Amino acid sequence: MDEKKSAELYEIEKECKKCEKCSLCAGRHNVVYGIGVSDAEVMFIGEGPGEQEDIKGEPFVGKAGILLDKMLTAVDLDRKKNIYIANIVKCRPPRNRDPLPEEQEMCIPWLRKQFAVIRPKIVVCLGRIAAARIIKTDIKITAEHGKLFKKNGVIMMPVLHPAALLRNPSSKPAAFEDFLRLQEIIKQKCEHTYD
Ligand code: URA
Repeated sequence: MDEKKSAELYEIEKECKKCEKCSLCAGRHNVVYGIGVSDAEVMFIGEGPGEQEDIKGEPFVGKAGILLDKMLTAVDLDRKKNIYIANIVKCRPPRNRDPLPEEQEMCIPWLRKQFAVIRPKIVVCLGRIAAARIIKTDIKITAEHGKLFKKNGVIMMPVLHPAALLRNPSSKPAAFEDFLRLQEIIKQKCEHTYD
């Protein structure tokens, strides 16, 4: 944990929690800012909070989050120890609909600020919405999950969203392969993730 980065993230969080830049603020119980270590070399980005996340104020704590944590554990990753997790939008879209482009546009500056502090080497996009916003707009997640992209020196990998894996358990082995690949890339490119 880097104390300067932690303090910077905390300052951004305080501002973010007051955000009323889009109408999603009206229905929220909590702003779901992000969780993890401030000097993470690997950052996971999801699409937006669901019901449980909105209640608890933390990303990926519902059923999809439990699956995500299991997959992370399998490759020695842990939100409390060596990664950071955030979402494209910080407030829950009603009935878990996809965040609208204008909501994403209003919210993405918060993610950019988090990114600028953490400066991860690897970004993992959880699902199509995050991958389309971060990697390329026309991403085909079913065909391109597990592939590596590079943008401004940062390695990016789109993976299947854990909620999609719950709907479609037959995709779990392929998703797990991607995590094993990620583990290899981390071993090659990161300095302290697996300390
Ligand atoms: N799905 C997401 O994309 N993000 C969360 O935080 C929870 C579920």
